[in-house]
Amino acid sequence: MTEPAAIAKMRAHGKTEAEIADFSRAFNRVYSGERTLIPERMIDPLTSIRSLSSLETPQDAAQAISHTAVLKLNGGIGTTMGLNGPKSLLEAHEGRTFLDIALGQILWLREHYQIPLPFILLNSDATASATQKALGAHNAPTDGIPSTVLQTVVPRLDPDTYEPISWPADPSQEWAPPGHGDLYGVLVRTGLLDLLLEKGYSYLFVANADNLGAVPDPTIASWFDHTGADFAAEVVRRTPMDTKGGHFARRISDDGIVLRELAQTPESDLPFFMDIQRHAFLNTNNLWINLASLKQVYENGGLALPVIVNHKTVGHKVPAIQIESAMGSAIGNFAHAELLEVDNTRFIPVKRMADLMLLRSDAFELTPEGIIKDRAPQRPIVDLDPRYFARYEDFAARVPETPSLLRAHSLTIRGDVRIPPGYVAEGNAQIIEDEPEA
Ligand code: UTP
Repeated sequence: MTEPAAIAKMRAHGKTEAEIADFSRAFNRVYSGERTLIPERMIDPLTSIRSLSSLETPQDAAQAISHTAVLKLNGGIGTTMGLNGPKSLLEAHEGRTFLDIALGQILWLREHYQIPLPFILLNSDATASATQKALGAHNAPTDGIPSTVLQTVVPRLDPDTYEPISWPADPSQEWAPPGHGDLYGVLVRTGLLDLLLEKGYSYLFVANADNLGAVPDPTIASWFDHTGADFAAEVVRRTPMDTKGGHFARRISDDGIVLRELAQTPESDLPFFMDIQRHAFLNTNNLWINLASLKQVYENGGLALPVIVNHKTVGHKVPAIQIESAMGSAIGNFAHAELLEVDNTRFIPVKRMADLMLLRSDAFELTPEGIIKDRAPQRPIVDLDPRYFARYEDFAARVPETPSLLRAHSLTIRGDVRIPPGYVAEGNAQIIEDEPEA
């Protein structure tokens, strides 16, 4: 059988056999039409979950965290916000970038507990060089553990033929990172998994670079250590805004935990998926991985992650699919997985410009420990007009100075509005610009 052109393209571009093997597995699953649907009849809702607030601070708080390394996912390019580079280098709060603040949290913990706490960024081709430059002196290895690792890129494909697409005007557009599920492949392919184990690290805490609530918490590390689990995910309760986000559930066949994404839900089961009372727990992507268990899974043949087919248009012209996988879906591969309910202080995702405006505002403060903390009793809701504020550049042109949101329940902006410097939103604030009917 001749090799699919997409695989040949990887070979021609000097990708390693291990990278090719990982892509090949995912490609074959998509090519053969395999769909990893999780119907409602195969799962039970999760009811009682241990919560962080019920955990006691461990007597020896430094113990488990001293065997923990931290990795932040920094390979995505924030397309939803109109970016094409690392979101972690945007200003997040008080003139500091996401990376500055995350590093500050690590440095504080290192100093306070006298632990090495290696900090690793998972980059992609699109984020690596800018991130390494920004890391400056922190680009050096800690305890022999590199500060960055690079995920692979895989060919974008024609949605009908599965042949690689061609875009000579900018050949880099012919490639895409395969989603954060590539993390596990990266850990194995680069030798980082073995290196961490050799150096005596038992646990890896992983989170999105855009979630500054994801601090490597010694109490959680200690809890994870005591459970003896292979894998754990921090979850928050779903709100009416989260009906599209993936939820966890119990697999009836073997009692294992699974993550079910919207795309994996059969159409007839969508009402169950949307029911936030029934399926109450949302994935934060704050994950704790037992490195010895991960090694074991790879010795037994590796992880089988559900594939996600993501549709794109290259150069506003060429339709393409990219094959991706999600890191959290690995939970279904581990015999002993745990969930821990946390509150939204550990979940401050920045997906849209509204999230960034809120984070930059006085509704949050940065503590001396480097923690981003809510100042308002209830986190305000920011709703920006998607026509004028969805992309970073458009937002920056209309919001020269972050408004005060501390006393706002919500701020709603409609129309092509420029927010005046010094604007203070209170209660349910609105700035609505009527536009002439077209
Ligand atoms: P998201 O899917 O939210 O991606 O990834 P994003 O980059 O923030 O935004 P969009 O979807 O392009 O608009 C969650 C985290 O995973 C990282 C991202 O950098 C983010 O921190 N990620 C995503 C990777 O590291 N690699 C990938 O291939 C995809």
